[in-house]
Amino acid sequence: MPHTIRPQLRVVIVGHVDHGKSTLIGRLLHDTGSLPEGKLAELKAICARRGTDALEWSFVLDAFQAERDQAVTIDTTQIWFKTAMRDYVIIDAPGHREFLKNMVSGAAAADAAILVVDAREGVAEQTRRHAYLLHLLGLTQVGVAVNKMDLVGHDPEAFGAVRREVEAYLTSIGITASHIVPMAARHGEMVAARGQAMDWYAGKTLTEVLDSFEVAPQPVALPLRLPVQDVYRMGEERVLVGRVETGILRTGDRLLFSPTGEEATVTALRVWPHDPDKVAARAGEVIGLTLDQRIFVERGHVGSHTQNPPMLSSVFRANLFWLGRAPLRVGGIYRARFGTVEVPVTVQSIERVIDTGDLSQSAGAVAGQVPRNAVGEVTFRARDLLPVDPYADNPRLGRVVLYDGHDIAGGGALTMEGYADQRRVERPASAHIYKVHSALAPDARAAKNGHRGGVFWLTGLSGAGKSTIAMAVERALFESGAQVYVLDGDNIRHGLNADLGFSPEERAENVRRVGHVAALMADAGLIVVSAFISPYLADRERARAAAPQHFHEVYIAADLATCEDRDPKGLYKRARRGDIRGFTGVDAPYEPPPNPDLLISTQGNSVQTCVEQLLAYIRAHTALSEARPDFAEKALGI
Ligand code: ADX
Repeated sequence: MPHTIRPQLRVVIVGHVDHGKSTLIGRLLHDTGSLPEGKLAELKAICARRGTDALEWSFVLDAFQAERDQAVTIDTTQIWFKTAMRDYVIIDAPGHREFLKNMVSGAAAADAAILVVDAREGVAEQTRRHAYLLHLLGLTQVGVAVNKMDLVGHDPEAFGAVRREVEAYLTSIGITASHIVPMAARHGEMVAARGQAMDWYAGKTLTEVLDSFEVAPQPVALPLRLPVQDVYRMGEERVLVGRVETGILRTGDRLLFSPTGEEATVTALRVWPHDPDKVAARAGEVIGLTLDQRIFVERGHVGSHTQNPPMLSSVFRANLFWLGRAPLRVGGIYRARFGTVEVPVTVQSIERVIDTGDLSQSAGAVAGQVPRNAVGEVTFRARDLLPVDPYADNPRLGRVVLYDGHDIAGGGALTMEGYADQRRVERPASAHIYKVHSALAPDARAAKNGHRGGVFWLTGLSGAGKSTIAMAVERALFESGAQVYVLDGDNIRHGLNADLGFSPEERAENVRRVGHVAALMADAGLIVVSAFISPYLADRERARAAAPQHFHEVYIAADLATCEDRDPKGLYKRARRGDIRGFTGVDAPYEPPPNPDLLISTQGNSVQTCVEQLLAYIRAHTALSEARPDFAEKALGI
């Protein structure tokens, strides 16, 4: 059966323990005539041996399980059945924990799901948890079997009550069940046949519901993603091998490899057995390819077209279903798998924790951890840039699985919410430009000014005190004869950066431009004090890279509650009301510097104290006298 060319639908059957999943599966196999030869006799024998009169349908699964335990080569977590219309494969491991692991790791990627609910008990703990997982993983084709109707006397009222309860929960998490079927799986009522006892129900049987679902098409319409699995040498040829996860790859395509940004053109596609006419490979195909240039490519790199490449990021935001024995905590280190790449990551922050049972939410700062079986909105960080896609753009690749040792500790969907693509390469758009060098001696300006230039980059939440401190420091330095200038966020956004808003990408561009302006001014001999929220670590590191000799990161620290209390411009109030979206600290991230060059806490310190701290630091890092006493004379030639 598995090797048929008929369409095949992958279905998961989920639900609370003892609500009848196994019985339903056994019955589904039998009633659709899908039980292998001899299985029924085997089942009867087992039942007789165990002393049950009635047939125990869940034993069918036990029989499969026994085979599975012996099998070493075939993938027996899959059970096949068929209707007149098509073939089905049930992908599932029987245990609750195994099921959850398979779901979060993507091993159980299904086209559709059936949620089994006991008519006597209604929605139970695992009903909620499993349903939430379906929602998290974006499964939209969901049918519900209200099972064991025989035990409530096939009562339509009892069915109605459970149906309303299930609908209410599913609606609250954003799932619409296409059909809710009353059923007595043990007696085969409403599985494949209608039976006699529930004439009052006019809807579909379970197999009709299944037949109404659609097989998810291969994602050819999505942008091309080719994670490289291996690079082989074949004689003179170098062949890259990988599976086209999404999109279509053609001979002659210009490919961009991430994270390196190297580009080359596909000269030929290789398949086994050899096919000289092969010029295109679609999502789902494993393919070899050769390139027109010897660029550096290795396992884990992702090929895409030059248009529409994946995001590059070293920070990741995900909705994670947590299964770890120990709760997920800030600072925890795990191995993370994105597509074919595995890297260590550190948990940077927990934004929110959602109890899948009652859907109650708590702020990460309050909860402090994500306990087992809860869902966390989590941000974590890797050392290097990795190619990733948000789940909403590419469900195939937008997942992450976290491992604790060898164990799957959690997994879920990448949202990347609040984080920008870091693919901005600072490469000139034109190849025909060259650098010219100043005719001044390197230290001439410093000698004239009596101090060196420098960039003192103030970062912190809105309302932390950046501008206040910057302006006071500017004045004090000016009065003592220094060349000093303040670059302030609100001011720059009225002119140079008037075209930029507050999306992650625009903030990154804001900081990129200001980073270069500050670097130029410092090079011109000025002491630059900049006051920008600059919420992203990566952006600040880029600003540092623009002025490596001059840059000092100064963290103006005050906690959110304090800033919100001060609210000098009334913006926090407006953000809380929902009038401003993406406000730092409210619904957009702030990543504090883990190792600032200087930390000034404005909480419990007077403005004067903070100003003096910064003044002392700036003087120490720009003064000529301390660094090189004879410097002025030499540089000016006196
Ligand atoms: S940054 O994030 O790109 O570095 P920047 O420092 O330039 O921000 O601008 C921050 C100032 O813009 C804040 O002090 C505040 O007055 C104003 N502002 C307006 N909208 C927002 C927002 N969504 N988030 C943060 N600040 C905002």
